[in-house]
Amino acid sequence: MTNKKRILSGMRPTGKLHLGHLVGALENWVTLQNDFKNYHLIADYHALTTDLNSSNIYQNSIEMLIDWLAVGLDPEKSPMFRQSQIKEHCELHLIFSMLITSARLERNPTVKDQVRDLNIENISYGHLGYPVLQAADILLYKGEFVPVGDDQVPHVEITREIARRFNQQYGEVFPEPEPRLTIFSRLPGLDGDQKMSKSAGNTILISDDAPTVQKKMRSAVTDPQKIRKGDPGRPEICLVFRYHKKFNPSEVPEIESGCRSGALGCVDCKMKCSNKINEHLNPFIEKRKFYEANPELVLEILNDGENKARLVAQETMNEVRSVMKFG
Ligand code: TRP
Repeated sequence: MTNKKRILSGMRPTGKLHLGHLVGALENWVTLQNDFKNYHLIADYHALTTDLNSSNIYQNSIEMLIDWLAVGLDPEKSPMFRQSQIKEHCELHLIFSMLITSARLERNPTVKDQVRDLNIENISYGHLGYPVLQAADILLYKGEFVPVGDDQVPHVEITREIARRFNQQYGEVFPEPEPRLTIFSRLPGLDGDQKMSKSAGNTILISDDAPTVQKKMRSAVTDPQKIRKGDPGRPEICLVFRYHKKFNPSEVPEIESGCRSGALGCVDCKMKCSNKINEHLNPFIEKRKFYEANPELVLEILNDGENKARLVAQETMNEVRSVMKFG
């Protein structure tokens, strides 16, 4: 067991998660937990980088944890924990912040995109240092693989640079982690936007019940040239077709030909798609109900995950202090 390679991944606590999270990350985590030693972090300090109001962070963390459990993360195999409860994240972040230049962090494309999208005029010191804290998250657990979406690859690259710099300066402590991407690393939003995201309001939640999924799917944007049944459509530009590929692979050939010929109308096509999505989500919804009815169990799982993670983090910090000759 101990020679299993280690995985570290995490998410910022944004509350209930959507299909983009499921397809882009969670499914991958669930599969990987059988062959790797997984650690999963709720990046609650990172949440402060884009919203200083901290009053919902705890509740959002719990909602996210319930989704993680509902989709099949197993607390025995994959400890789940909050960054804020393990102070070693802050200690290692401080040391790492000496090992990278501010110019390097200013070149980070993920933070640049965020600054543009959120119209941030003056970025905070902490926000610029987002990837430095992320490096501490990964390396405290000596994560060798980091299963994330493609937008996080620059952060893993910065983590590798910091690991190398530390090892050269003080002694070999850290591995150089590698990103692990999923094939479906992006699912488009219901509005046809390239990415499903809470801020764009174009999501289907993992916890949405069947009527909600149907209703949301009815509003999904399709090929604008296909106005009524009988009109030929272009599946390659239709987001509903992308969802079929993911959630209904066995019917893809007939849906594709039905759409192109016009025999299949968008209303029926969407209905088929929501049924498949619901089939997929049903077991998750059942599990969520169980955890919602047993909140003390959820807290126990979190507490247990935090105790396990803390032991690993403390061990790594002892090594760090030792090679740095802090005594
Ligand atoms: N930056 C990640 C995101 O926004 C969240 C995160 C924080 C993370 N620490 C991490 C991801 C460590 C992987 C590893 O999605």
